[in-house]
Amino acid sequence: MTKAKEHKACILVIFGATGDLTHRKLFPALYDLEFKGMLHEHFRAVGFARREKSDEDFRKEAFESLKKNLRAKINDDVWKRLCAKIYYNQAEFDDIEGYKKLCATIEYISGSKAEDCDKIFYLATSHEYFETIANSLKESNLAHKGEKGESYSRVVFEKPFGSDLSSARMLNEKITKVFDERQIYRIDHYLAKELVQNLLVLRFANSIFEPLWNRKYVDHVQITVAEELGVENRGSYYEKSGAVRDIIQNHMLQLITLVAMEPPVSLNAQDIREEKVKVMRSIEPLTAKDAEKFAVRGQYGGGSMNGKKAAAYRDEEGVDNKSHTETFAALKLSIDNLRWAGVPFYARTGKRLKERVAEISIVFKHSPSVLFHQHLSGLDPNMLMIRIQPDEGISLQFNAKIPGAKMLIDPVRMDFCHECKFGPNSPEAYERLLHDVMAGDPTLFTGWDEVEHSWRLVDVITKTWEKTKAKFPNYEVGSWGPKDANSLIEKDGRKWLEPQKPSYSALLEQNKK
Ligand code: BG6
Repeated sequence: MTKAKEHKACILVIFGATGDLTHRKLFPALYDLEFKGMLHEHFRAVGFARREKSDEDFRKEAFESLKKNLRAKINDDVWKRLCAKIYYNQAEFDDIEGYKKLCATIEYISGSKAEDCDKIFYLATSHEYFETIANSLKESNLAHKGEKGESYSRVVFEKPFGSDLSSARMLNEKITKVFDERQIYRIDHYLAKELVQNLLVLRFANSIFEPLWNRKYVDHVQITVAEELGVENRGSYYEKSGAVRDIIQNHMLQLITLVAMEPPVSLNAQDIREEKVKVMRSIEPLTAKDAEKFAVRGQYGGGSMNGKKAAAYRDEEGVDNKSHTETFAALKLSIDNLRWAGVPFYARTGKRLKERVAEISIVFKHSPSVLFHQHLSGLDPNMLMIRIQPDEGISLQFNAKIPGAKMLIDPVRMDFCHECKFGPNSPEAYERLLHDVMAGDPTLFTGWDEVEHSWRLVDVITKTWEKTKAKFPNYEVGSWGPKDANSLIEKDGRKWLEPQKPSYSALLEQNKK
């Protein structure tokens, strides 16, 4: 069992409690915490949303989502304990009466004054409501700073934080009038994925990789965050977002910074954030012209996936039938610093791609053309693959001799299987994040500087694309995206690596049965 960081009882208020995120991620995370004994006996969760329903209705819905979204079977005792901790508060986000009702609910379930309870406000809503909710919390005296031994009040903002640099700045200005930066937790759930956290260990707790981790030995880095799913029932959100705002601005740039950053002075949140921001500042800013050259967009058309019919993006619910929103984006970035000058970083992400996989590949330079050069030509170079999901693990690919009298060489892989070594119950990202907010640890959350710099980097792309219409749809469901994405990397004499299932995948599959 994971050792819990110290935390006291608290009340978690979830705004947007009837939405997709609460059902798919937050309920399972709360269940897992309860299962592991990491929810305080007096912990309570209050759903805050517009729809009329009773505590009982809300609990039933939570149970239904657990049935669908939990990795394990529901344990009756655990559910009984969790169920008794769940409440519902119906209100509009801008109705101050609803917040008074919330205070009364908090007092009723805690048996003490609302301002005396430790509280976490989780805004699982669109960023358009962040300001209204923050101001209403202030007005109802729920946003106090928690100084000098007072109870605390923390606020969690789901991504995306704004929709571009100027909206994010405006939003930040408004919310920092209500909350101090130390009360604010901005979510990027990729930071809490086990293999993403492992990146710092891999790099800085091993002496064998760090000496190679630079332009002298690395030819390029490629990162794929691919999803098999389409936009599901989030069409209206996705229309305004697209792949760049949904994944590149946050998850992808976070992965790039963790791969590229210098060792931080310490492992505290501020020191790590500082190093990440330095990477963002070193990324060569794209001009509008560059955006045309180094960024590729795509949108899926209809077809069939895994033997089933799949709708085109434009036919999805909540999507305009002439939509120009990108469901795929690929980029080439350059990091202009001493470690990475001349080493391109290629990144691609998209929905309805061939398979669900998130993987970072560090592709090393070929060895000099002596001794084995005629045997090596046409073979893949050495590579280190960090497989974030599924089948989490790390693989090192190097060349070996094929047995026999002839000198023949073949690339082979050494695989580290995370689950085989550590078991199947590693905390899911949201479980870890909720636990860390309760414990007051901001390390796996993004600081304002990171958010600001990441918007600055992607704004050029989104603004350039807004000006010209693309020829959409331009990729088939179940493919690896549009042809232009291949050209982006192939014109540099490189290619996208087709993600390969690690050798242990079959074993994991068998264990699940
Ligand atoms: C979210 C995006 O941040 O990440 C979704 O809004 C995407 O569109 C999801 O599906 C992917 O997360 P994961 O953990 O399933 O890779």
